[in-house]
Amino acid sequence: MTILVTGGAGFIGANFIFYMLREHPDDRMICVDKLTYAGCLSTLKPVLNHPAFRFVRLDICDRDGVYRLFKEEKPDIVVNFAAESHVDRSIEDPSVFLRTNIIGAGVLMDACRDYGIKRFHQVGTDEVYGDLPLDRPDLFFTEQTPLRASSPYSASKASADMLAMAYHRTFKLPVTISRCSNNYGPYQFPEKLIPLMITNALAAKPLPVYGDGLNVRDWLYVEDHCRAIDLILQNGRDGEVYNVGGHNEMNNITIVRLICRELGKPESLITYVTDRKGHDRRYAIDPAKIHKELGWLPATRFEEGIRKTVRWYVDNRQWWEHILSGGYLNDNDTLCQ
Ligand SMILES: NC(=O)c1ccc[n+]([C@@H]2O[C@H](COP(=O)([O-])OP(=O)(O)OC[C@H]3O[C@@H](n4cnc5c(N)ncnc54)[C@H](O)[C@@H]3O)[C@@H](O)[C@H]2O)c1
Repeated sequence: MTILVTGGAGFIGANFIFYMLREHPDDRMICVDKLTYAGCLSTLKPVLNHPAFRFVRLDICDRDGVYRLFKEEKPDIVVNFAAESHVDRSIEDPSVFLRTNIIGAGVLMDACRDYGIKRFHQVGTDEVYGDLPLDRPDLFFTEQTPLRASSPYSASKASADMLAMAYHRTFKLPVTISRCSNNYGPYQFPEKLIPLMITNALAAKPLPVYGDGLNVRDWLYVEDHCRAIDLILQNGRDGEVYNVGGHNEMNNITIVRLICRELGKPESLITYVTDRKGHDRRYAIDPAKIHKELGWLPATRFEEGIRKTVRWYVDNRQWWEHILSGGYLNDNDTLCQ
């Protein structure tokens, strides 16, 4: 089987490539990534010379390039991780989110249609459902919850999901969608909450927390997300959406305090900053469908996962310092030559 993974130089895509090369040694993995500011090719260094791996620097919006690659590689499966993924950046400038997250997904689906692919999997997010009130802990997002995106990021992801469902209905494209809650773990870009707090705390810098810090997210260790996608690729039903989440709700301030404790840093580093515009209050996933149909359950408890993640950032200072200094952008160019 040849699996084409887009966005594999980013956080979840890279973890997925490592996971799949380990769990499915007979499959071939082609990674397509534009290497935007969020792509770090040195993350993939351990597998760049792996015989079952190929890296191609390519923008998923480049229709000719995508078609050329499909003609050459004839992938069986496409897993689309490639996206602009940072909500704050989508508030600053939505345009690139619309281009990559919607147009790019459409280009991939067209190529999948023309080359008769076995499965197109769209990696989605629970943010497409909007948010839930803090005082209704009984409410969860199910696959039937209407889409009610709040940010340009989540609206662009909701659009891609709708396009995928439309391609399934209209063209019978074999499509699946996963909608996952917040991921954490190794190789996450240090602009996102958990790595930002860890790397700032290690440098004794202020820890900026939005608003009152009480916004709730449902946290999932990245490897559990990778396993969920693997199960969907193997046994998921065409045209279905699968919510992926760990029943692991935590508010932001609790996580930041936990990180301080884990690193032995004072909570006085915490500074409250003006809230994000349109900030969603609570996300919470009901993962009953993927559990019942595919037997998926998260394997990593939050206490264990956050400890492993903090340890990883402590042990891999070079990886994130290279990102903070901007040096990784030169590596992206040289490693591609
Ligand atoms: N991080 C989370 O908590 C989370 C949760 C649920 C779903 N998701 C989804 O999972 C996917 C991966 O998220 P992530 O956190 O790993 O993101 P990320 O920002 O770390 O990585 C995105 C990758 O996509 C690449 N990319 C961006 N534009 C591209 C383009 N036009 N062509 C080719 N490559 C391009 C970037 O270079 C980068 O390597 C996204 O689709 C995101 O919406 C993320």
